Amino acid sequence: MNRNPFLLKGYHSPELFCDREQETRQLLRNVLNGVDTTLISPRKYGKTGLIYHFFHHVQTQNLPFEPLYIDIFPSRSLNDFIKILAEAILQRFPEKSSIGSRFLEILKGFRPVITYDPISGTPQVQINYQLSSEKEHTLQGLLKFLNDQEKSVVLAIDEFQQITEYPEDNTEALLRSTIQQLHNIRFIFCGSKHTIMADIFQDAKRPFFSSTKFISLDKIDFERYSQFIIYHFEKNQIEVEPEAIQHILKWTKRHTFYTQSLCNTIFSLNPEIVNYDIVNQACNEILENNSATYLQYRELLTNSQWDFLIAVAKEGAVQKLTSAKFLSTYQISGTTTARRNAQSLTDKELLLAIPDKKYTTYQVYDLFLSRWLEREY
Ligand SMILES: Nc1ncnc2c1ncn2[C@@H]1O[C@H](COP(=O)(O)OP(=O)(O)OP(=O)(O)O)[C@@H](O)[C@H]1O
Ligand SMILES: [Mg+2]
Repeated sequence: MNRNPFLLKGYHSPELFCDREQETRQLLRNVLNGVDTTLISPRKYGKTGLIYHFFHHVQTQNLPFEPLYIDIFPSRSLNDFIKILAEAILQRFPEKSSIGSRFLEILKGFRPVITYDPISGTPQVQINYQLSSEKEHTLQGLLKFLNDQEKSVVLAIDEFQQITEYPEDNTEALLRSTIQQLHNIRFIFCGSKHTIMADIFQDAKRPFFSSTKFISLDKIDFERYSQFIIYHFEKNQIEVEPEAIQHILKWTKRHTFYTQSLCNTIFSLNPEIVNYDIVNQACNEILENNSATYLQYRELLTNSQWDFLIAVAKEGAVQKLTSAKFLSTYQISGTTTARRNAQSLTDKELLLAIPDKKYTTYQVYDLFLSRWLEREY
């Protein structure tokens, strides 16, 4: 059986990864020039994939960097942050290596309890702090350890916006002041909540203000994505009709995750040829599979919010939320209702707000939900 080349999670290899050449080059340039990066995009555009792709490049090209990735999404406090960092370092530098054994020595100074998962071997670190100064000292100790390595460490912190949720009120200042003293670590701060990330890095009153270069990940280029999709089907002896590709990328609006999902589903149908009909069949299957979840959303929203969501889905993208035409087409009672619904649906991450110089454009965040609402109502 052929392996499905359209990944739905994780990173495999450059062959299964489409484009992002320019962004990979930019990351490299930043790292080589001692510049820290803030990497942002809406959800599931491929930020984490890009980090892994870049790290793969660093390793295969033998570049003089030591890549280290942490995902702080599950962290709820600075304690968790430290735990995740310590575990990642332990995992990255095995105890048997000289770096690993040195790290273990340093870590032991913080009196941790270290256990290893018996099946996966993944390390678990538990540190109890008496005072908050001990916690700060531990964080500084871990980062200083990384800083003291011969090879520069590139530390990617995924879902960085999470630090704003920590109960400790000085996390940003503490991190920033610690980082400022380290000259041998390059940071990549990654996140999908645009407003929170912008607040952290672009607000002159906050510690991280102007400390990084932004990479704002966009959709993958139409031509590049078409070629990628055709290549992988044809490699598996599946013919592709050009109109089918148009249909795929139009239906998914070139959004990475949804494009990957649709192609994955098409591939799983085992077609001899990818044509318009098979694409439609896959689209319908996806919407059917998700419809129970989408119906549950309705229970969580007011009628007015639900109707508003449908209106945005039917429009595809709404640039002028309060325009008379939009309000009258969808019988929305007024501009205040429109604004209030847009705000609460954006807070719930059911709508995505994309601001530009003039307008904020709204669309349904989950593209499949958008397509489902369009079809059902
Ligand atoms: N350039 C690419 N080519 C092919 N597949 C990709 C590419 N980038 C990402 N993907 C795939 O798209 C999906 C979403 O990517 P990823 O998880 O990297 O997005 P993300 O922006 O980190 O999302 P989130 O904001 O939810 O963390 C994954 O299945 C990943 O394998
Ligand atoms: Mg991610």
